[in-house]
Amino acid sequence: MKHNEMRIVKIRKVKMETRNVKTIFFEDKLSASAEPGQFLMVWIPGVDEIPLSISSASGRLASVTVKEIGEATRALNKMKKGENLGIRGPFGSHFRVVGKNALVVGGGIGTAPLFMLVTKLLNNGVKTTIIEGAKTRSEILFHDQLLALHDKRGLKVMFTTEDGSYGTKGVVTEAAEKCLSEEKFDSMYVCGKEAMIRELYFLAEKHGIQMQASLERIIRCAMGICGSCVIGRYRVCKDGPVFDSSQLREISIELGKFQRNFRGERIPIEN
Ligand SMILES: Cc1cc2nc3c(=O)[nH]c(=O)nc-3n(C[C@H](O)[C@H](O)[C@H](O)COP(=O)(O)OP(=O)(O)OC[C@H]3O[C@@H](n4cnc5c(N)ncnc54)[C@H](O)[C@@H]3O)c2cc1C
Ligand code: FES
Repeated sequence: MKHNEMRIVKIRKVKMETRNVKTIFFEDKLSASAEPGQFLMVWIPGVDEIPLSISSASGRLASVTVKEIGEATRALNKMKKGENLGIRGPFGSHFRVVGKNALVVGGGIGTAPLFMLVTKLLNNGVKTTIIEGAKTRSEILFHDQLLALHDKRGLKVMFTTEDGSYGTKGVVTEAAEKCLSEEKFDSMYVCGKEAMIRELYFLAEKHGIQMQASLERIIRCAMGICGSCVIGRYRVCKDGPVFDSSQLREISIELGKFQRNFRGERIPIEN
């Protein structure tokens, strides 16, 4: 079976993470062997096909963690155990282990691929700190799983909330800046809104550390053909979604500022 051929999979389990975020588990050998940061094209029968990061992969089971935004994500989060989905993938580049001391930063649903990443970093003997930012306490993702990794594997975990209802009050970039000024990290791994990625990119450059960030663009074919996901000279579906510092440098003018709409027109990013 080629990874870009659609497979029909049965939903094995649905876990409610927050009010509007669910994790959907299914059995698929290819997805279960994916690397952190790779994504799937998920077809919701009769609705649409959308890109989603793989949020866990172990044994034969894999999952996606989905936030309700519009029609397709709403329909997906209404689906129940036993119903069928179509999947293609895994696609794209993935986070690579660089150095011995890592700072991982996730904002909102951007945390979806990062639990798998921190597990990989810890398995590779990397000292790891994760900062997760959310608007409010009830929107924090993977809270208990991250604290379990703290207890068992020494993961350093920090939370920020914009309203101060949990962890440090403020935004995740402020906490990251504080960490970077207090400790020497070898690399930073980021997923979230592009304005946040842009700020963290400049911080990484200032501190002279390697950064890898997962970017989002409109993805349709996921195979580098249609051009809907272009950023600079790259295609997010094939060259990304994870880009490293040298690639981010090349696209820093567009990063967090412009994207393409469904018609392929270059438009400002609203944050
Ligand atoms: C590589 C990648 C990984 C992603 N991982 C996750 C994830 O793990 N969890 C998650 O909840 N969301 C993830 N997303 C975002 C997710 O694809 C969109 O939220 C979803 O497509 C919205 O579809 P909708 O029909 O519900 O909303 P719509 O109302 O159709 O769209 C709402 C907004 O979502 C974005 N969007 C819509 N269709 C696409 C598309 N085909 N490609 C990219 N963006 C689109 C656009 O910005 C659009 O304005 C990821 C996106 C990319 C590119
Ligand atoms: S989604 Fe078609 S080229 Fe990337």
